[in-house]
Amino acid sequence: MDQSETPLFTALRSYAELNAGYFRIPGHRFERGMPEAFRRFAGDGVFKLDVTETPLTDDLHNPETVIKRAQELAARAFGADKTFFLVNGSTCGIQTMIISTAREGEKILVSRNAHRSVMDGLILSGARPVYAVPETLDFPGIPGGMAPVTVERMLDIHPDCRGVFLVSPSYYGICCDLGAISKITWERQVPLLVDEAHGAHFYFHPDFPPGALTLGADCVVQSMHKVGNSLTQSSLLHLRTSLLNPDRVRQALRLTQSTSPSYILMASLDLARQDLALRGRDLLDRSLETSDWIRRGIAGIEGLSCVDRDVAGTHAVFALDRTRLVINFDRIKITGFQARQRLWEEYRIDVEMADQRNLVLNITFGNTPEEAQALVAALKDLSQKAGPSRDKGGFKAVFPELPPQAMTPRQAWLTTPEKVPWSEAKGRIAGEMAAPYPPGIPLIYPGEIITQEIWEYLEDCRTGNRHLNGPSDPRLTSFLVLPEGD
Ligand SMILES: Cc1ncc(COP(=O)(O)O)c(C=O)c1O
Repeated sequence: MDQSETPLFTALRSYAELNAGYFRIPGHRFERGMPEAFRRFAGDGVFKLDVTETPLTDDLHNPETVIKRAQELAARAFGADKTFFLVNGSTCGIQTMIISTAREGEKILVSRNAHRSVMDGLILSGARPVYAVPETLDFPGIPGGMAPVTVERMLDIHPDCRGVFLVSPSYYGICCDLGAISKITWERQVPLLVDEAHGAHFYFHPDFPPGALTLGADCVVQSMHKVGNSLTQSSLLHLRTSLLNPDRVRQALRLTQSTSPSYILMASLDLARQDLALRGRDLLDRSLETSDWIRRGIAGIEGLSCVDRDVAGTHAVFALDRTRLVINFDRIKITGFQARQRLWEEYRIDVEMADQRNLVLNITFGNTPEEAQALVAALKDLSQKAGPSRDKGGFKAVFPELPPQAMTPRQAWLTTPEKVPWSEAKGRIAGEMAAPYPPGIPLIYPGEIITQEIWEYLEDCRTGNRHLNGPSDPRLTSFLVLPEGD
């Protein structure tokens, strides 16, 4: 296949050039009906792409011409059997993976640090999650990868799992040993579903870890918009399997995607795939150069350090994405949260994520040398102003036992919660999730019982002012619980 083709974008351009009379949806009639300020800022061209299922532009939900071809080109570029364009991000791809793998009451093995969209998928499907806990890294206090032995052990205990859902690479750029894991799942004929939202670029440069499709995953979702150069919300769902039914996946996508998918997003997927396929190596050379330059700069700053390749090669960190920078602040007198705020307020530098101990930055080929220099200079300045601290890492990621499940996520969703004082939540069924940051692995999910041990762990977070994700009352004076036997 000729990867220089862009069938969908070309069809959209041809359609615009026809200047046809247009009496369909959307109503704006391209640039002609656009609010003036929007048009002035964005220019006219982009609005001409915002059409619908015209005679030239195919139908995402029943593709026969240009979208079909564009998806085939994407499948070939990534080494998939079949690829679906997504217009609601990897969020809808993950929901689709879950609902096309496990039905009401069926088990599915899920990594405990999975993205929240897995919970949506579990609510939609009614499946019963069996959780596997990833390794954790004391330095810098983040979740590591899932060890193959953990997957093996969990599948031995729960041989009736209908699928295994893992995240690799994680938000922090940490990859699991998917090659070893896919052997385990293949032997048991259980599909391996991988959230590769942060790893679409791996396929186009040899200095990145191999992609999940290359390593034997059956179904993989990627946010092209996170690490490639497509527009926000545009993602890909790939199949390379005999263990999942592509028709069921297609039907599931009807449940999770709009009937009016954006052609701008789909065209951007078509073009981003072409760009990576034709120029990926050069583009990613630039990403690597920039991130390596920043890493070297940070190595020269007193008190700061990056998670680097020297930690790779274990179950916790099988491999690392070098373009994902995790900068640790344990040895200077500010937290990751404060560093993010100060980088923005004092230096106008905006970073992807912060936790108590770290900043996470996403470096791509779009980043300029000037941005990189400004970042390193700002970090140096921050570190000098903040001054050294005694290593405040210290936090050991010792997790309480996973709590028993009283209800599936779907049953929990369908049950009306009540708010109780936090002191009375012990022993009750949780109505909401709580995940201390770091490392961001949920201690409790809706439908699980708040055991004494979990309550005490969360109580320590509350009294220690540790950042908690999830609770509607983040100070934990109250908590949502569910009535029993509703
Ligand atoms: C690991 C992971 N998976 C999935 C998603 C959802 O992706 P999207 O934003 O494309 O819907 C995210 C978003 O941050 C993520 O970090």
